[in-house]
Amino acid sequence: MDKFRLFPVQGSSSAQQVDWLYYGLTAMLVFFCLLVFIPLIFFCIRYRRGAKVDRSNPSQGNNLLECGWTLLPLLIGLGFFVWGAVIYYHVERPPQDALQVQVVAKQWMWKLQHAEGKKEIDELHVPLGSNVELTMASQDVIHSFFIPAFRTKQDVVPGRYTTEWFHPTRLGEYHLFCAEYCGTDHSRMIGRVVVMRPADYQRWLTTGETGRSITLEGRRLFHDKGCSGCHVGSSVIHAPPLEGIYGKQVPLASGEIVTADDQYIRDSILLPAKQISAGYANLMPSFTGHISEEEIMQIIAYLKSIGDQPQGGK
Ligand code: CUA
Repeated sequence: MDKFRLFPVQGSSSAQQVDWLYYGLTAMLVFFCLLVFIPLIFFCIRYRRGAKVDRSNPSQGNNLLECGWTLLPLLIGLGFFVWGAVIYYHVERPPQDALQVQVVAKQWMWKLQHAEGKKEIDELHVPLGSNVELTMASQDVIHSFFIPAFRTKQDVVPGRYTTEWFHPTRLGEYHLFCAEYCGTDHSRMIGRVVVMRPADYQRWLTTGETGRSITLEGRRLFHDKGCSGCHVGSSVIHAPPLEGIYGKQVPLASGEIVTADDQYIRDSILLPAKQISAGYANLMPSFTGHISEEEIMQIIAYLKSIGDQPQGGK
């Protein structure tokens, strides 16, 4: 793990693709560098002071050459754009079947929780050969979740959710870094990612302090925080019922229609006045300061579990 090497090992399914793009870009740069510098050095020597060479400079044009050296780099540039865009598209879209892990960043540690309930700090255990999706939030400043061996990096931003996914293809331990300068101990905001055999992972999930699943925690919070006092059908207070709302289109009082995704639910808890559901009054108190990022994620997981999962989106 600590041996010097130019590139980290390729530990995920996207590592090779990212590396090939990088090699391709480097090869192109080397090619164009040589294309400019070899003639430059040649002409420096050939036309040095005192050399007896023909210095007449007849003006001449060559349209083929002009078009060629304009179009060729343009096509190469567009080729790299398409190549990069295809990889980006792949890397940015988590597959539907991914294991879910919630990540909360703070100065200066990573707090992680697996859907089954197991919690970790500055460590992430994942099974070999499965897709893993991280849903991430920050409770203070911008951090960035970076696993070099997986060639994956994503900013973790206060006030919104970001996601990151990977498919580990190699057993072992890998570095986890914070890749966004986030204050005094930024350089110590590090950890490790442990890729285990699926059977070992299952055993790990169920040993030690396992806790309750995120969904169960969410259900408990939904009652303890008082959400259920208003947001169930039988309530006296006129509030939107939340069963099945996750992933649905919600009409707002403003006339807009939004999707009830993680971000929408998070905003509704912390900034209830921001998006009022059509047909309801602005009654709900804000929970800012009364609920942690982990708890919001748990409530979202619970609402997700009591709603129909939409196809193809999240
Ligand atoms: Cu967190 Cu740098």
